Amino acid sequence: MSGEDTLTAVARRKPDLILLDAMMPRMNGFEVAGRLKKDDDTKSIPIIMVTSLNDKASRLLALNLGAEDFLTKPIDRAELWVRVRNLLRLKEYNDLLAEQARILEIQVRERTAQLTASYRQTIETLNRAASYRDEVTGAHVRRISHFCTELARQLGADADFRDCIFYASPMHDVGKIAIPDRILLKRGYLDGDEWEIMKRHSALGAKLLEGGESPYLIMGRQIAMSHHERWDGTGYPDGLKGEDIPLGARLMSIADVYDALRSRRPYKEAYDHEKAVYVITHGDERTRPEHFDPQTVDAFNACHPRLREIYEELVA
Ligand SMILES: [Fe+2]
Repeated sequence: MSGEDTLTAVARRKPDLILLDAMMPRMNGFEVAGRLKKDDDTKSIPIIMVTSLNDKASRLLALNLGAEDFLTKPIDRAELWVRVRNLLRLKEYNDLLAEQARILEIQVRERTAQLTASYRQTIETLNRAASYRDEVTGAHVRRISHFCTELARQLGADADFRDCIFYASPMHDVGKIAIPDRILLKRGYLDGDEWEIMKRHSALGAKLLEGGESPYLIMGRQIAMSHHERWDGTGYPDGLKGEDIPLGARLMSIADVYDALRSRRPYKEAYDHEKAVYVITHGDERTRPEHFDPQTVDAFNACHPRLREIYEELVA
C-alpha cells in the first residue's frame, strides 16, 4: 500500500491502531505518520512504526513525529502482541476520556443555556412589574431593546454585547417603581421639587439592580444609573462626562431620546421620523447634539432608517 492509500484508508476506516511500515512507495512511513498526527481526526490513533532501520536516528524521528512505538524487522510476534495490546488499552482509555469530556461539554452548554433563560425570565418579570406602575408600554420596552441592539451593531459591538444590551436596556427606568404616584402619574409639568424626586429614579434603579452577578444585571445597573447622563456633562445624577459614561448608557440615551421624540408627550405631539432625526442631529429647546457621544450619533446617522422600521413595526 502506498503512503497516499494509507492516508485514504485511515480517513475512511478510523482504525484503533496503525502498524506503519517505514518503507512505502512514494510517501514514506515517517511522512505518513507526521500527517496523521497533525490531523485532528486521526491524531489520537496510536501508531507503531515498523522499520528495518535499526538505527537511533530513525527511532527518534518516529517518536518525534508522534508515533507511539516502533518495532524493527524481523518482527517478534510476542513483542508485537504485547505492544498492540498495551496501545489498544491506552486508546480505549483515551477514547473513554474524550467521550466523557464531550458529554461534560454538552451538559455545561445545556446548564449555561438554562441559566441564561432563567436570567432573561427574571428580567422580563421585573420589567412587567415595573410596567404596572407606569404608563410605559411593553412596546416601548421592546423598541428600546431593538434600538440599542441596532446601534451597538452599527458600532461594531460583538454578539455578547448585543445580547447583553438587548436584555439590559429595558431595565433603564426600573427605579420608577419607587417614585410616588402623585409624581410618576402626574399629568402636565413637574415643579422643581417634583422633578428632583423624579430624577432619583436613576439611582433607585441602580440600587435595585445592585449585586446582580449576571452580565444582564451588571449592564442593566450601569444603564439604569447613567442613562440620563450627557456627553457634555450636563446630565444627571452624577454629571459624568464623555467616556466616563458606560457605553451601554450612551447608546441607551440616544435610543431613549429618539423614542421619546417619536412618541406623544404632555408637552408635544409625536414627531415623524425625519423631525426626530433633525432634533437629534441639530437640537431643539430640550435636546442638543452635544448631549450624545459623537460615536453614537454617527452610528445613529448610519442606521436610523432601521430604527424607523423598528418603531413602525413595534408602535403601541
Ligand atoms: Fe429614565
